[in-house]
Amino acid sequence: MKLLEDKIKEYGIVKSDRVLDVSAFLNKQVDAKLMEQLGKDFANHYKDYDFDVFVTVESSGIAPAVFASLYANKPLVIIKKEDVLKDDEVYAQQPSYSFTKNHDYFLTVQKEFVENKKVVLIDDFLAQGSVAINVHKMLESVNAPLVSIGICISKNFQDGYKRLRSKGFDLYLQSEIKHLDPQTKTIVFEETI
Ligand code: G4P
Repeated sequence: MKLLEDKIKEYGIVKSDRVLDVSAFLNKQVDAKLMEQLGKDFANHYKDYDFDVFVTVESSGIAPAVFASLYANKPLVIIKKEDVLKDDEVYAQQPSYSFTKNHDYFLTVQKEFVENKKVVLIDDFLAQGSVAINVHKMLESVNAPLVSIGICISKNFQDGYKRLRSKGFDLYLQSEIKHLDPQTKTIVFEETI
C-alpha cells in the first residue's frame, strides 16, 4: 500500500537490522487519517471474504482494526495480554512469548465473542509470527477458524513471514520490508508487481 510505504519512508526510523521505529504514526503518536486509510484498505481487501469478526491483539493493532471494523461493518474483538490465568469458563487463553520484548504472557479473549465464528486477525507488525500462530491456536480451542491474517508492516526477512506462509495461512500484507540497514538507515521494500 503506497500511502503506508510513503509514511514509513518519511517517518520510520531504522533502530537496528530488526527494529523499525514507527512511533511517529503508529505506536506512540497515532496518525488517525492514516489509520482510517489502513482500515479502509483492509475492509476493501476482505470485502468478498466469508468471515464474522475481526480480532486484534492489544495495543497498536487496535487503531487500524477499528477502522477496518467500521468500513467492513463487522465487529472487532480485542485480544488482551494477561499475566495470569483467568476463569476458563469465560475466557480462552494461550501462552505466548514475545521475542521482540522478551517476556511471557497469556493471549486472552472472552469466549462468547469468538466461539464458532470465522475470524480475520489484524495486527500492526509481523516479526516472528508468534502472535499469529498463538492466536490461531487459541481460536482453534473455541472452534473459530482463522480465515486470514492482515498485517500493516511485515518484516519479511524475519522468521514470521516464512513460518506463516509455510503453514498455509492466507496473508494480506499492506507493506513488506525486505531489509533494514542500520548503517545507512535505509528501509528496502519488497518490489510489488
Ligand atoms: P511476533 O508476533 O511477530 O512474533 O512478534 P513478537 O512477539 O516478537 O513481538 C511483537 C511485538 O513487537 C508487537 O508489539 C509488535 O508491534 C512489536 N514489534 C515487532 N517488530 C517491531 C518493530 O520492528 N518495530 C516496532 N516498533 N515494534 C515491533 P506488542 O508487544 O504487541 O505491543 P504493542 O506495541 O502492540 O502494544
